[in-house]
Parts: sequence; structure tokens; C-alpha cells
Amino acid sequence: MKNKSTKNNLYTKSHCKLLLIVSVIIMSVGFSAFRVSSFSNPPENKLKNNSLHVELKIDSIISAMTIEEKINMLYGNGMFTSAGLERLGIPELHYTDGPFGIREELGKNSWNPLGLTTDSATFFPTGSALAATWNTDLAYAFGTGIGEEAKTRGKDILLGPAVNITRTPLNGRTFEYFSEDPLLNSKLTVGYIKGVQNAGVAACVKHFAANNQETNRGSVNVKMDERTLREIYLPAFKAAVEEAHVYTVMSAYNKFQGAYCAENDYLLNKILRNEWNFQGFVMSDWGGTHSTVNSALYGLDVEMGTRQYFSKPLLDAVKKGEVPVWVIDEKIRRILRVNFFANSTPTPPANSTVSTPEHGKIVYDIALQSIVLLKNNANILPINISKTKKIAVIGDNATHKHAFGGFGAGVKARYEITPLQGLQSRLGNKATINFVQGYKPKFLPAKKGVFGKQIDYQPDADLIKEAVAAARKADVAIIFAGTNHDVETEATDRTTLALPFGQDELIKAVSAVNKNTIVVVVAAAPVDLNTTNKSVSAILWSWYNGSEGGNALADILIGNANPSGKLPLTIPVSLDDSPAHALKTFPGDSVANYTEGILVGYRWFDTKNIKPLFCFGHGLSYTNYSYSEIQTNKPSFNQADEIEISLKVKNTGNKDGFETVQLYVSDMAPKVLKAAKELKAFKKVFVAAGKEVEVNMKIKVSDLAFFDEKLSKWVVTPGSYKLMAGASSQDIRVSSIINVE
Ligand code: BGC
Repeated sequence: MKNKSTKNNLYTKSHCKLLLIVSVIIMSVGFSAFRVSSFSNPPENKLKNNSLHVELKIDSIISAMTIEEKINMLYGNGMFTSAGLERLGIPELHYTDGPFGIREELGKNSWNPLGLTTDSATFFPTGSALAATWNTDLAYAFGTGIGEEAKTRGKDILLGPAVNITRTPLNGRTFEYFSEDPLLNSKLTVGYIKGVQNAGVAACVKHFAANNQETNRGSVNVKMDERTLREIYLPAFKAAVEEAHVYTVMSAYNKFQGAYCAENDYLLNKILRNEWNFQGFVMSDWGGTHSTVNSALYGLDVEMGTRQYFSKPLLDAVKKGEVPVWVIDEKIRRILRVNFFANSTPTPPANSTVSTPEHGKIVYDIALQSIVLLKNNANILPINISKTKKIAVIGDNATHKHAFGGFGAGVKARYEITPLQGLQSRLGNKATINFVQGYKPKFLPAKKGVFGKQIDYQPDADLIKEAVAAARKADVAIIFAGTNHDVETEATDRTTLALPFGQDELIKAVSAVNKNTIVVVVAAAPVDLNTTNKSVSAILWSWYNGSEGGNALADILIGNANPSGKLPLTIPVSLDDSPAHALKTFPGDSVANYTEGILVGYRWFDTKNIKPLFCFGHGLSYTNYSYSEIQTNKPSFNQADEIEISLKVKNTGNKDGFETVQLYVSDMAPKVLKAAKELKAFKKVFVAAGKEVEVNMKIKVSDLAFFDEKLSKWVVTPGSYKLMAGASSQDIRVSSIINVE
């Protein structure tokens, strides 16, 4: 585990003063329109998530507290704790990362692990893996499992889910995030949070908002038009608050429209609280607080990672009248809501083993449903074991574990089945497996002033030679390629999509001597698959797939299970095809200007007619599905209506399977810029071999709206809309046209 304090100091100390001055100037001149709060009156208490009984109890506690006691609860009194108030029986709050497993126990005030032997946990598949299941029930199961583990370890707040949109495939945290699509993102977010909170632990949706790159994340000022913000970057956060009633929100490191997200009146007060009626509390990202008065007034409740601004300086500011007492009282009220909900225990049982067989089953199911069959030209997959005696297993990712590595939160996994172990246990003595290394993760000497490991892209001729020899002798060669956590990591973005460590050369050489070569890409963000695609007929995509990843992968490889994952991200032919790179707005310098607007991910590719290598929503199966008879409940709709869509899906092959039916909508005569198509609904259905099922979906006419900046509201333009159901964003099978009055 890395020591994170260096990084946080990097952002808080050296840049802080200058940036604060600049941001205050920018805010006062350029973005005065975003300053909306009035501090003369406390806001109305809408009691949405809480009973009157709790609110009355909170009132009486607040009235019994001194101002010193209140301030004491507003910052982290440890790396992952914030104070309660013993005198009044309020226990301290315990936080844990999240989002893909309960972090091992650290020293109270340090990033150093305590080195316990009993704080291991289940490694849950990371964000993009969960997203590839397109299964909201599994998102809920994920939340329940991780929530139960947090509870058992005495944690009150789980720092997840992480739901920022994948704007660039290079983003180092793509593995933690879900998708490039706001609807898929929102649905998974809701499932995850409901699961966590159902286990009695407060979820923390993060990082609010527009934290879409790691480069300069502690200082970059993100700019975009309001329509883009509302349509692309906010929906998952909105759903977290309005549908899942999330208890806490983490503000992002970056600035948005000139103000740090931890002191962003527009994001925190106007949108989150006033519009969405958020009742819980906002914490800063670790080391992401930059001021006292602005942060206090413009929406931050708890400073985490530092104790610099909400400790004595805040007390002084209250005493000087710069921050009204009622503003502090509101913060305490929000914290106490979380405290009562989580029913925090004074002495957390840090030493308990939390990972259970039930949670293992959840991670197996998620891993299984996340694996994407990208290509299977000669039906090489599944491997026919009755005809396969010798398998060459090649590549570091056959044995690499992904729970740890890189920078940021990891999981001390109770166990992690690697692909090689999965194959060995599933095959027993049915075939001989010969493992050879193929490539090794290699890094160049550190570069001065550059954070993170410097990846070596050069092939290793000796390892390739050994792999070729093994492949020659084998009936089937499987190359486990891809990335790992040192390549995809928090705090840095990749600089290229290229497969690291010379893997293209390995894939070319091995596939040249064995036509039954399968490439399994183990990665959690897009990589360059051009060479792979040219070299082999079968490509499977696995992810950082958790404790049971290897078992699930083996079951797919040998046909015990049928793949059903679909890409939650576009895999481009070239990085320059992606919007932020085509427009050269990534990473920006002090400003990241999202000039591609709403055309993020497949919205860009479709609208600009750029063919990706593998499109959003793509994923094959060992069977085939035919789509027919799409219908709507009527041809014409009012603005307040719901549209009921039905269609038939038939499994025309001889293997049972799950198909994710994706419903895209296109405005046939747009009056403003619209994406060629937008995902509006999806449903994952089980279809037994030879059987046909009816798939029913509902969307509201209001779901067809765009955000009209001039009117500052959502507007559905009357006219014709095409509803398109398909197996991916580029594989539309049936469509129907409706009219909106
Ligand atoms: C990350 C957060 C994380 C926090 C605490 C930060 O660097 O951005 O996602 O929860 O550290 O580990």
C-alpha cells in the first residue's frame, strides 16, 4: 500500500495559496451567476430521509452542544475517522475505502497498514467490471456484500461508489468508475448504494463532480456548458440522491467553473441541496479542502485528509461572525443523520474476518456476467476439452493478482483466484497446462517530477521465444494480456492505449505458430487491440474481476458458462478517435475545457460516424439471439406519458444464455444538437436455448428531454423519435417510430 500523504501535500500545500487567490478572483468576476446561496436564513428542513423522531433528537443534541464541540466534529480526527461527542453519547464515525473491497486497517493517523492478520476482505470486481454485467440486481448484490463486510468491520461509511464518467480512455481511475454512459452509470449507482445502505452502512458517492482525469486533478479547472453537466456528468449523482437516498457525498479534488469542488456553491448548495434535496453530509476528498470560510459557506461539511481549515480556523471564523452558527448547526444535523442511520459502534471490531462464501458467490456471479466475448470468428471458444489435450497458458496476467498495486485504495483480499488457478481447478487432469511467462511487468527508472511508475513498452525476446515454443507444442494457446494496477492507477493517467511490456510482439509471435490462439485481455480500461484483432480469431475481455475472477474466466473459456458481458466503454481504433483527444482538450493545463460537450463516448463516435474497434454495448455469446416484433403501447404520446415498449428475443442456438437488450433513442428531426443515439433503457434477460421471451421496458417521455440552457430546464421537443433495440450501440436489430405531441 502506498503512502498517500506525499501526494496530498502536493495538491494542498504548494498550490493551495496561489490557487485559492486565483479562484476567489475568478469566482468573483467570472462566475458570479453560480453564487446562489443566501446566508441570512437556515434552509427549510424537508425531512425527506428522516423520521421526525430523529430530527427532534438531533435538535436537542445540537442545542446541548458548545460551538467548540460542534467544530470538533467537522474534520477528520484520524485518517479515516471523524469525531463524535462522548459527553452526549455520540460515537466517532468510521470510514473505509471502497469502492471494491474493505480496505485493511491503517494506523489512526497514517496511511501505514497495521499489519493485522485478520483484516482481509472479499475483493469485489472493480467498477468497469460491474458495469459490464449491465445487471442492476448484481449491482445491488455487490452493494449488499460490500456493505455487510463494512458493517462487520465496524465501519459506518463506505467510500463508494465512484461514479465519474469515463471521458477519456486514459483516465487512471477508469477501472474504478462504471461507464461512459450516464444511464448505465445511474442504474448501477442506485443498485450499489441501495445494497450498501440496506446493510446499515452509509454509502458515499464520489467524486462530485467532473473528476474525469487524474492529471492535475488537484488544481485543474473543469469547464463545460451546463447542458453537458446536466446530461452527462450529473445524472449518476442525481440518481444517487433522489433514487437511492445516499447518505454522504465526496467532493472532487478539481475545480469546477473556477471554484474547488469542496467550496463550490453552485454544485453543493444550489444543485445538491436545493435542487436535489440532499439531506446527508458532504466530505472533501482526502486533502481536497482549500479554504475555511468559502468551504464552510459553500457547502462542505467535513474536511477529510487534512485538519487545516475546519479546525481552529473555522472556530475563529465563527467567532468573528464570518460563518453563521446556523451554518455550523446544519452541518452537525447532517452528520448526526448519518450517525443515527449507521448506528455507529464506539469500538469497531477491526479484527474480524468478513469475507464469506456468500460474498464469494456474489463476486463469482458478477465476474461471470462481466466477461465480454469481443470476437469469436472460427468458434474457437469455448475450448472443446474433449479434443484438447495440451494448453499453453501464456502471459503475466495468467498469474497476476489485481487486488493491490498502484496508488490508492486496494483490498487485502482473503483470496484471489488467478486465471491459471481457475483453469487448473476446473480442468483437473482433463488437459495438460503449460504455463510460460510470455511478458513481465517492467518499469523504467522514475522520471523526476513525474508521479507514478514509468511503463516499459519493450518486448522481452527470451520470454517470447519460450512462449512460441510452448504454443507450438499446444493444441490451444491462451495469452493472458492486458494491464495491471501499476498501469491503471489513481493519481496518474496513462499516456497511451498501447499494451504495455511488449505484448503486441508476443501476441503476433504466438499467433503465428498456433492458429488456435485466444487472447484474454485482463484490463479495466480500453487498450489498443488493433494488433490483437489482426492476429487472433478469439478475444475475451476480463477485468480486475475480484476474488473469484479466475474461476469465472475458466468457466467461460471451457464453456461451463456462456459469456454475457457487454462493453460499458468504447474501444477505439485510435486514441485520437476519442472526443477529448480528437479535440485535443485532454488533459488541458490549468483548464480542462470539455468542448466535445454532450458527445462523450459512443455519442461522439456515432454522431461523427467514426467506427470504433469494439463499440459501446458490444458483447457476443456462444449462442445467437434474434430480435423481433418491437411494439409500443400507442403511436403518439403526451409529455407526461410513459412509453411501454415490448419486443421478442429468441435464443436460436443450443446454449442457454443472458442477453442484454439495449434501447437507444434518436430524435428524428433535432432542433438542437443531439447525439445520433442515446441509451434510454436496457434489460438483461435469461433466454433458454431455442426459447423466445418477451422483453418489456418502460421509459418516460420526459426521459427524451434535453437540457435547454436558455430556459434552464429540461425540454422534450415535440416530433418523431426512433426507438431502436439492439445487441449493442452499433447492432440495432428492431426499431419503431413514435410521435411526441
Ligand atoms: C481518493 C478517494 C479515496 C480517498 C481515501 C483519495 O485519494 O480520491 O477516492 O476515498 O483518497 O483513500
